[in-house]
Amino acid sequence: MFKKKKKLSVAAQRKADRLARLGYSTQDTLKFQDLNDEGLMKIDDDHYSRVYELGDVPFEAIGAEAQQEVIVSYGEAINTLDAKSHYQLLVVNERVGENAIENLLMPMAGTPDDVYRKEINDLMKARFSSEDNEFQVKRYAIITTEQKRASAAEISLSKAALAFQEPFRKGGVPLTLHGLSGEERVNLINQFTNPGMTMSKVDFQHQNAKDLVAPSFLELDNNQIQINQAHTRVLYAKYYPKVLEDDLIKNLTALNHEMVISLHAQPYNMRDLQKKIQTISQFNKIDRRRQQKDNAKDGVSSDFVSGLSEDIGQTTDALKEDFSKYGQKLFTGTLTVMVSAKNKSELRAITDEVKGVGEAEGVFFESAYNYQEEAFNTTLTLGWSFLNEDPDTYRDMTTLNIATQRPFTSVELQNPHGEFFGQNQITGNVITIDRKDKQDLLTPSGLVLGSSGSGKSVAVKYQLLNTLLNHPKDRIIIVDPESEYIEIGRQLGAQILDISTGTNNHLNLMDLADRTKLREEDKKLDLIKEKSNLLTTMFDKVLTLSDAQKGVIDLVTHDTYEQYEKPTLVNWQAVLKSRPEKIAQELALSTSPYTVGSQDVFSYETNLDLSNRFLIFNTKHLDENMKPFAMQVILDQIWKQVVASQNIVSTWLFFDEIQVNFQDQDSANWFANLWARVRKYGAIPTGITQNISNIMQFQGGRNLTSNTEFMMLLRQKAPDLKILKEELGFDENVLDQFVNERAEVGTGLIRVNGIMVPFKNPIPDHTRLYELLNTDVDTDKE
Ligand SMILES: Nc1ncnc2c1ncn2[C@@H]1O[C@H](COP(=O)(O)OP(=O)(O)O)[C@@H](O)[C@H]1O
Ligand SMILES: [Mg+2]
Repeated sequence: MFKKKKKLSVAAQRKADRLARLGYSTQDTLKFQDLNDEGLMKIDDDHYSRVYELGDVPFEAIGAEAQQEVIVSYGEAINTLDAKSHYQLLVVNERVGENAIENLLMPMAGTPDDVYRKEINDLMKARFSSEDNEFQVKRYAIITTEQKRASAAEISLSKAALAFQEPFRKGGVPLTLHGLSGEERVNLINQFTNPGMTMSKVDFQHQNAKDLVAPSFLELDNNQIQINQAHTRVLYAKYYPKVLEDDLIKNLTALNHEMVISLHAQPYNMRDLQKKIQTISQFNKIDRRRQQKDNAKDGVSSDFVSGLSEDIGQTTDALKEDFSKYGQKLFTGTLTVMVSAKNKSELRAITDEVKGVGEAEGVFFESAYNYQEEAFNTTLTLGWSFLNEDPDTYRDMTTLNIATQRPFTSVELQNPHGEFFGQNQITGNVITIDRKDKQDLLTPSGLVLGSSGSGKSVAVKYQLLNTLLNHPKDRIIIVDPESEYIEIGRQLGAQILDISTGTNNHLNLMDLADRTKLREEDKKLDLIKEKSNLLTTMFDKVLTLSDAQKGVIDLVTHDTYEQYEKPTLVNWQAVLKSRPEKIAQELALSTSPYTVGSQDVFSYETNLDLSNRFLIFNTKHLDENMKPFAMQVILDQIWKQVVASQNIVSTWLFFDEIQVNFQDQDSANWFANLWARVRKYGAIPTGITQNISNIMQFQGGRNLTSNTEFMMLLRQKAPDLKILKEELGFDENVLDQFVNERAEVGTGLIRVNGIMVPFKNPIPDHTRLYELLNTDVDTDKE
């Protein structure tokens, strides 16, 4: 009675169990023959397909002109396909895994500032779990080719993929195309056939791909399919208007249901087509009448006839012109939407929602009644439409029809190890940026631009707090001309350096960077010459020097460094005084207030402790006439610090109100040079200003902005909007939309190396974070 079972290996047993569970039909439902390691699928004897994951392309925040470029590129890409190929656009709206956020959260450090870590984490979590964010859209292009042999198919598909990408490249649209491997394809199909099951290390030699993706349970009904626990239904677009709105896909995915949208397009042979146009024109009249009759029967307006009927209905010539002049091709196409639910009533509700979105756009979705199996395969990632038995499901589509259904919305700025910068205003997703990531930013330099009160300082304080929390070793140096950072500095343990007359604080102007630590290309810098220039411009500003006097300053400076190892301005003054010339004596007298007199902040050995990891240079209380060169001395000191820290830690530099460094040509150059120079030593400078127009007046300022890949724009004034548009390449419409004079505080645009995302980052006012970032009151105002 009981037969002894032959003992199977564990793997074989598992496979046998699986097969037994599968039964014949579930596997048979999937209409493809084979899939190999490389991701090449054999659909039937004549057709092979490949899946390419498409990266998103910024669309919604780029302005009309750039949008057109995207559509045109996409249209041209579709046009590269010949009559022997088949295109499927697959858009998957999927639930985002819980753990995506886990990686972004800051771990607690067991220190008092954990209170901020927790609050920032909470902000991130709150934005992540808001309804908008539970879903993410993934998009795939599936290209199918007609070939008898796999090797030939491989070649023609590689060519097709390259050709598809070319128009985007030419149009400057940053589209990425990632060819899916066999394993990735198995996992993609499994998302629909066996949700939650991820396979790794698939052995395509010994495992049949169809076994791997066959659902364990499948029951077909004429109006739905039950796959495992899920009730699934495929709808198709039965009617749509001649000109399809471009936001159908977006509005469907915005329903926040798991959903798969497939658009199939099979190119006509254009030469045959042209010849046939005459004939089509004849048929069209009949077809049109028939369709209108059908429509009347279905209670649909007679406007909704297929795109082609309409086109041809106008004139045959117009269609010809469309094809020849506008480069349009004609395709036969199908649009399907697959939804699934826990039970039938939920499925009904979701179906109605999809129909509702369609109707609002003039698109009538209908369940693929009696063709659920074919429709399911059509929607899957195979690259073929199996609905040809039902001619109702087909529509002729022009290139433009297809291209307007572009799957692009907005890029995300989401670096997996980045810091939280707020929420994308379009998609609602969190924005995380790592300014040190060389893949995202060739140079980490950044600018924060916005009118007064737009939220610049809060944004910068927020960034520096994040830096302190996330990079415990890095140094932070702030140049704070308006005493805005004193309070946050006090709370976070900064060394606050009050650079002003009357204190006993000194920075030695004559300090030189450690030459041995300079980079090769800077070794040839004449540091003494630079000091001499600094002193010349400095004194020129207060005294207006003659050429002879400038000559004396130069000589004296060189002499001072020769006579003293670590000179100060006091030494410099002594050298000057020791010179016999009358002009030197006069100069010694007139410079004395700044060297040995009352304005002697920079005349003695540096006695400020610059070793703290967090330094704030505060110049608010310095005498007005000292401010311009004070800044240069401070910048020089900062450079020294940066050179000393290179290769040990990164130094983050925050310069608030950088317009103070753009008083004239000299100061502008000085600052722009420093900006370019510190970068090479691993420093990360951020400049903040409400006056970009002023900065752009100087060549130095223009150099600086063109070297800056990270930009944060907040609310702007009209003249600055003009500069941003004309000189910094921002799109007018985007600026108008997100940083106009009515933009809310703390909202705007972030541009990272050309990728732009509108952000918002409101700090809730009952938090410790808000308390900390809002401490902008100058506690010791005069
Ligand atoms: N992200 C934000 N969340 C909440 N309030 C903000 C935010 N940004 C700015 N504010 C509010 O606006 C005020 C002005 O911002 P601030 O950063 O000082 O502007 P700016 O430096 O551009 O002049 C702040 O004191 C604060 O009350
Ligand atoms: Mg400010």
